[in-house]
Amino acid sequence: TYIFWLNGFFSWAIDKLLVLTVATQETDGFLRFMQSANYFNYTIKVLGMGEEWRGGDVGRSIGGGQKVRLLKQAMEGLADQEDLVVLSVDSYDLIFAGGPDEILRKFQEANHKVLFSAEGLIWPDKRLQDKYPAVRSGKRFLNSGGVIGYAPFVNQIVEQWNLHDNDDDQLFYTKIYLDPQQRVKVWVRLDLEVNVLQLSLAADEVLLKFGTERVRVRNTVFDTLPVVIHGNANTKIYLNYLGNYIPNAWNYERGCGVCNHNMVDLSQLKEYPTVLVGVFIQQPTPFLSEFFHRLVTLDYPKDKLKIFVHNNEVYHERHMQRFWEESKDIFNSFKVVGPEENLSQGEARNMGMELCRQDPGCDHYFSIDADVMLTNKQTLKILIEQNRKIIAPLVSRHGKLWSNFWGALSLDGYYARSEDYIDIVQSKRVGVWNIPYMAHVYLIKGEVLRNELTERNHFVLEKLDPDMALSRHGIFMYITNRHEFGRLISTANFNTSHYNSDLWQIFENPVDWKEKYIHPNYTQIFTENYLEQPCPDVFWFPVFSERACDELVEEMEHFGSWSGGQHEDKRIAGGYETVPTDDIHMKQIGYEKEWLHFIREFISPVTLKVFSGYYTKGYAVMNFVVKYTPGRQSYLRPHHDSSTFTINVALNSKGIDFQGGGCRFHRYNCSIESPRKGWSFMHPGRLTHLHEGLPTTNGTRYIAVSFIDP
Ligand SMILES: *[C@@H]1O[C@H](CO)[C@@H](O)[C@H](O)[C@H]1NC(C)=O
Ligand SMILES: *[C@@H]1O[C@H](CO)[C@@H](O)[C@H](O)[C@H]1NC(C)=O
Ligand SMILES: *[C@@H]1O[C@H](CO)[C@@H](O)[C@H](O)[C@H]1NC(C)=O
Ligand SMILES: *[C@@H]1O[C@H](CO)[C@@H](O)[C@H](O)[C@H]1NC(C)=O
Ligand SMILES: *[C@@H]1O[C@H](CO)[C@@H](O)[C@H](O)[C@H]1NC(C)=O
Ligand SMILES: *[C@@H]1O[C@H](CO)[C@@H](O)[C@H](O)[C@H]1NC(C)=O
Repeated sequence: TYIFWLNGFFSWAIDKLLVLTVATQETDGFLRFMQSANYFNYTIKVLGMGEEWRGGDVGRSIGGGQKVRLLKQAMEGLADQEDLVVLSVDSYDLIFAGGPDEILRKFQEANHKVLFSAEGLIWPDKRLQDKYPAVRSGKRFLNSGGVIGYAPFVNQIVEQWNLHDNDDDQLFYTKIYLDPQQRVKVWVRLDLEVNVLQLSLAADEVLLKFGTERVRVRNTVFDTLPVVIHGNANTKIYLNYLGNYIPNAWNYERGCGVCNHNMVDLSQLKEYPTVLVGVFIQQPTPFLSEFFHRLVTLDYPKDKLKIFVHNNEVYHERHMQRFWEESKDIFNSFKVVGPEENLSQGEARNMGMELCRQDPGCDHYFSIDADVMLTNKQTLKILIEQNRKIIAPLVSRHGKLWSNFWGALSLDGYYARSEDYIDIVQSKRVGVWNIPYMAHVYLIKGEVLRNELTERNHFVLEKLDPDMALSRHGIFMYITNRHEFGRLISTANFNTSHYNSDLWQIFENPVDWKEKYIHPNYTQIFTENYLEQPCPDVFWFPVFSERACDELVEEMEHFGSWSGGQHEDKRIAGGYETVPTDDIHMKQIGYEKEWLHFIREFISPVTLKVFSGYYTKGYAVMNFVVKYTPGRQSYLRPHHDSSTFTINVALNSKGIDFQGGGCRFHRYNCSIESPRKGWSFMHPGRLTHLHEGLPTTNGTRYIAVSFIDP
C-alpha cells in the first residue's frame, strides 16, 4: 500500500497543480520565472500577456486589481474541478526553489482550502490591524503576491471582485480574510511560517542552502525551505543574487547550470554583428598606446567595428592623433570627440549610446574605458555569444579585490559587496552573474537601447557616478567570469609631466610596466637558461624591450643636459670623476627610485643565478645613461668600476643607429663587438674586469649603466 500511495501521490501531484500567473510583458524577471518553472516541470498558464498594464505601480503604491480580474476570468472555467489545486503568483520577481510535488504536499499538510502568503508588515490599511487574528508565532499579515487553494474555493474568493483594475488586490483579499464568516467558509489561512511562499524577502532572514543537485533558500527564522521565493521593490537585487544560485543556476558540485542557455554561435551566422565601440578617456591614463593596440588586435572583423572615442584629456591628444592616423582606415568608421568640446563624462557616455541607438544597423554597443586592459582578444566574441541584454567581462586590478562590479547595493542605493563578491572576483565561483552595478566595460544590445533603455540622458540624470546608472532598470545586467578577460589599471599617481610617463609606472601598475618594458624573453633566462657568457664572468641576457630602450633614450634626449664627459662633475661626491663619460644620471630625470626598483625586481634574480649565492641588495649610487658619438665622446679608456658588479644595457642597435662600439675586457683579451639592443652585460666591477668602451665610429650609441653594491 505504501508504494501504491507513493505512486498515486506523485501522479496526482503532477497532474493536479496549475500555476496561474499574470505577466503583461516578457521581462527578464518573467523569463527567469519561466526558466525555474520549466526546470521543475510546472504547468503554467500566463494571464494577460500583451495586455496593457493598468494595475498601477505595485510595490510603491496601491494597485494590482487587474491581476484579480484576470484571475477571476481564468477561474470561471475551472471552478468545478474539485481536485485541482491552483497556485496564483506574480512572476516578475519570483523564482521556484522546489517542485510541484513539494508544494502540494506542504499545502495538504496545512490542511486548509486556501493559503495566502504572509508577511510581517500590514499593508495598505494599517487601521485593520486589530481585526487580524492573533498569532502565536509567524507572520501575521496577508500578502497578495501568492495564493494557493482548491479551484472551487479560490473561485469563491475571486468571483467577488467587482472593482477597477487600479484598485488594490491586497486590500480586497485582506477584507475577505478578515471577515470571520468568509474565513471559515472558504477555509482561508496564511502561510504563517513561510513554508510554501517566501514573500517579502528579507536578507537577514534567509540563507542559501547548497545541495549537490539544487540550491535552496532557508528561512532561518522559521527554519523552513520555502518553495516559492519572491522579491519586492526593496529586495529585487537580493532576489537577483539568490537567482544566481537557485534552483540550479550554480552550485559547488556542478558549477554554472545555466551559463550555456541561449548562447549564439557566431561562426554559424552569415555575417558578424556590427558593434559600435565607445572608448572613454576620462583622465590621464597610463599605457594608452597599449590600450589602443589591444583594441586594434581584438579578434573581430574590423569592418564590423565602428569607433567612437571621447578623449577628455589634452595630454592624450598626441596619442589619440597617432592612433587615429594609424587606424582610421582599418575600422568601419571612426569618430573622435576631443577635450575642446568640454563634454562632461555623462554627456559623452550618452552620446556614445545614442549613436548606437539611432543607428538601426548597430547590433551592439561596446563601452570601454581606457583603464581596461583587455588581454583576451576573444572578449568581444565571447560576450556576444553569451547573448544577454547587458553583459560585462569581469576585470579587476591585478592582485586586488577592486573590480568593475558590485554584487549588492546598500539600502541608500550605494555600492556594497555581496556575500559572494570575493569568490567571484577570485574566480572561485565561475559563471554568469546577475548584478546591480557595473562599470568600465560592458556590452549592450542595440535593440535594448532602442526598445528598453530608451532614455537619452541616461547618465546625466543620475546623481551618483555615471557608471552607477545602469542599475536602475528592470533589465538584468550580468557579469561573466567564465574566461579571463584582462585587468583594470590604476590611474592614480600618474604623473604626466615626463616625456614618456609610463616609464614611471613600475610601482603603480607593475604588470603593465613589465609587459611593456621588459624583454619578452626575459623569463626564459630562468626557465631555459637563456643567457650567454661571451667572456669569462661576463654574462649577457635580455632585459629591456625595444620600447623601454627607445623611451629611455627619448627621455634623456628630451632632458638634454648631457654632462660633456668632463672630469669636474658637480653631480658626484668629491666633484671629480677620473673616467668621465658623456652622460645623464637617472637622478637628474627623477628616475632613481624607479630604476633601483627595476634593479631589485629584474636584475637581482639574474645575479643570484649567475653568481650563485650572491644576494645583492640592489643598492647603487651611480645609475646613468651614456652617449657615445664621434663628435663628442666616442670611447672610454680602460678602467675599473666602483661596484661589486656592473650592468650595462645596450639601448640601441649596431649597424642601424651607429657603427663601432662594444666592450673589451683586457685580462681575458676578450671583446664583445656586437651589442644587442635591450641586452645587458653583467660583470664584476673591480680587480678582474678591467674594461674599456670601444670607439663608436659613426652615429650615436646609448647604454644604461649601474654600479651595483659599490
Ligand atoms: C522534468 O521532466 C523531464 C522530462 O520528463 C525530466 O527529465 C526531468 O527530470 C523533470 N525535472 C524534474 C525536476 O523533475
Ligand atoms: C566647461 O564646462 C564647465 C562645466 O560644464 C564650465 O564651467 C567651463 O567654463 C567650460 N569650459 C569651457 C572652456 O567652455
Ligand atoms: C611629477 O614629475 C615632475 C618632474 O619630475 C616633478 O617635478 C613633480 O614633483 C611630480 N609630481 C608629483 C605629484 O609627483
Ligand atoms: C625570443 O626567443 C626566441 C627563441 O627562444 C626567438 O626566436 C625570439 O626571436 C626571441 N624574441 C626576441 C624579441 O628576441
Ligand atoms: C687577443 O686576441 C686577438 C684575437 O682575438 C689576437 O689577435 C691577439 O693576439 C690577442 N692578444 C693577446 C695579448 O693575447
Ligand atoms: C654613418 O651613418 C649615417 C646615418 O646614420 C649613414 O648615412 C652613413 O653611411 C654612415 N657612415 C658610415 C661610414 O658608415
